[in-house]
Amino acid sequence: MELEFLRCTVTLESVALQRITERVQLAIKRLPSSGIDLLVEIAPDVERLYNRHLEAPRLWFPHEQIDWGKGQKFSERPWSESDYPLADGVRSSIYVNLLTEDNLPYYTNTLLNHAPKGHPIRDWNHQWTMEENRHAMVMRDWVHISRCIDPTLLEEGRRVQMGKGEVPEPDSIADLITYVSFQERATQIAHRNTGAKLPKDDKIGRNVLALIAGDETKHYLFYRDLALAAFAIDPSTMMIAAAKQVSAFAMPGTGIPSFTRHAVRIAREGIYGLGQFLKDVLDPVLGLWDVDHLAGLSAEAEKARAELAAFVAKISENVERMAQKSAGAKPALI
Ligand SMILES: [Fe+2]
Ligand SMILES: [Fe+2]
Repeated sequence: MELEFLRCTVTLESVALQRITERVQLAIKRLPSSGIDLLVEIAPDVERLYNRHLEAPRLWFPHEQIDWGKGQKFSERPWSESDYPLADGVRSSIYVNLLTEDNLPYYTNTLLNHAPKGHPIRDWNHQWTMEENRHAMVMRDWVHISRCIDPTLLEEGRRVQMGKGEVPEPDSIADLITYVSFQERATQIAHRNTGAKLPKDDKIGRNVLALIAGDETKHYLFYRDLALAAFAIDPSTMMIAAAKQVSAFAMPGTGIPSFTRHAVRIAREGIYGLGQFLKDVLDPVLGLWDVDHLAGLSAEAEKARAELAAFVAKISENVERMAQKSAGAKPALI
């Protein structure tokens, strides 16, 4: 009996030891090569920036933005392109941007995967989700009332995209905050430029997209400045993450049906493409983080900085070549 008790105790202890070993291994896996636990270190900055965000609330109401009296039943008057004449690229942009907003549950899930209970970044994620949620609401209301895009195509796209649940899944907190900084900025630019392409007399549509772009601006400022704080804490880990995220960056929406075709149209329309990615996203964000002049980088991070510079130079060359090509093509078109 005593032997049995001892055997049992030894087994329980070895199970407990195994669990502790696994927990330590998991913690080590989470730590970057610098050994700094960035998630712990940035907690005060998350709090600071979250409080700054709350100090300037944007309390607009989705239901107040729409002229409901203009609505017509689709069962009585089916949608037609002539309901709202618009360039293909602008229609594609509204479609892609709205479906991206629809995919919010999966983005929230990704963010919460990096937000342990009790950490202020979890509170921020809840606030962010609450604000983001109204974007799809107000956009869809405007889309349906104005008839600017085909509602059947939109719903079919939503079913396909949300059925996949396809969103980027950054590996670490450093990857996450660098990626989201670029993404929020890119989204802000895409909504802003789409609004500018709407007919002047669609004041409601322009206002809806401006409100959304305003929210995206605030989200961008939170992540951009959080990443800036993280660069000060662990520049090497952040540099490696930034280089990785820039070279792999794609606009959200890769799960949307015919995404590439829509992305080409959106770029051709001058709403969002490689040129905007370089001038409106990479230049201001990397400039603010001052990646060219950061000191105290590890050898691996120096290598990442060089790769990042080479990647940005390559994009710059491509943008220049495309600009020359379109400038050269213009006389032939006139
Ligand atoms: Fe949004
Ligand atoms: Fe956003």
